[in-house]
Amino acid sequence: MTSPIAGSFVVHLIVLSAASFSSVNGSLSPNFYDSSCPNLLSIVRDAMRQAVSWDRRLGASILRLFFHDCFVHGCDGSVLLDDTATFTGEKTARPNQNSLRGFEVIDTIKARVEAAFSGVVSCADILALAAREGVVLLGGPSWSVPLGRRDSRTASLSQANSDLPSPLSNLSTLVSSFSTKGLSATDMTALSGGHAIGFARCLTFRGPSTMTPTSTTASPTSSAPTAPPRGGDSNLAPLDPTPNFFDNAYITRTW
Ligand code: HEM
Ligand SMILES: *[C@@H]1O[C@H](CO)[C@@H](O)[C@H](O)[C@H]1NC(C)=O
Repeated sequence: MTSPIAGSFVVHLIVLSAASFSSVNGSLSPNFYDSSCPNLLSIVRDAMRQAVSWDRRLGASILRLFFHDCFVHGCDGSVLLDDTATFTGEKTARPNQNSLRGFEVIDTIKARVEAAFSGVVSCADILALAAREGVVLLGGPSWSVPLGRRDSRTASLSQANSDLPSPLSNLSTLVSSFSTKGLSATDMTALSGGHAIGFARCLTFRGPSTMTPTSTTASPTSSAPTAPPRGGDSNLAPLDPTPNFFDNAYITRTW
C-alpha cells in the first residue's frame, strides 16, 4: 500500500520497535537468521495465513500483542511469559487481562520453528514477524523487520499497569506516556493507525456497566457498532467500519 497514512504507520512501527529496543542491543538485522533458520519467514507466514483464515481478527490481535510487548521492557517477548514463583507476568495487567489475544498462535509458530531449528529464534522476533504478516494478510503495507532480539527472562505486572496507555487518559497523559518510550506525538498519532483493524469491548470506550455481561468474546460477524447503553461490557464493536481490512477508514471515519 502506498497511501501516506499507511506508509507513515509502517515507518512508525519500525520506530516503535527500534525505540524500545535500542537500550538493550544496538545491532539488529533483517538477515539475522538467514543461515541459522533459513525458512523462518515461510513458517511464520504459513502459520499466520492459517490463523487469519480461521479468524481474521487474529491479525489485529497479534499486532496489539506486539505493541503491548514493546511498551513494557522493550520488544523482548515479556508479554508472553506466564507467572512464575519469582515474578507475576504481564498477562493479568489491567490493559491485558480478558483483552489480549493470539498467544496460542505465537506458541504454535514457536513450536514449528523449534522443530525446524531448535534454540535459535527468539519469541520476541517471532512476535515482531507475526505482527507484520498479520497486517499484510489484512491488506495492509509490508515492512522490513530487524531481527536478533533476545527474549526476556522476566516480566513486570506493575510496569504493564503503569506504562500501557489507558483509553481513559487525556491527550497530555498519552503524549507523555509515549514520550517516556522515546516516541513523539507524531509517532503516537501514526501508530494509532494500528486501530485500522480489530475490535474493542464496549466497556473500554463507554466505561463499565453495573449489569452482568451478556455477550461472548468471540469475533462478531457483523461490523455494526454494538454498544448498548448499559450491560454487554464485553460486546465487541469494530474500531472502524472495516475492522478486517487494513485501510484508511479509521482515519477518515465514515460510519
Ligand atoms: C495511543 C494509545 C492507545 C490506546 C489508549 C489504545 C487503546 C486500545 C483499546 C482500549 C483497545 C480495545 C481493547 C479491548 O477491547 O479490550 C484497543 C485495541 C486495539 N489496539 Fe490499541 N491503543 C493504543 C495504541 C495502539 C497502538 C500503538 C497499536 C498498534 C500499532 C494498537 C493496536 C490495537 C489493535 C490492533 C486493537 C484491536 C485488537 C483486537 O481486535 O484484538 N493500539 N486499543
Ligand atoms: C490529564 O490527566 C492527568 C492525570 O489524570 C491530570 O493530572 C491532568 O491535569 C490532565 N490534564 C488535562 C489538560 O486535563
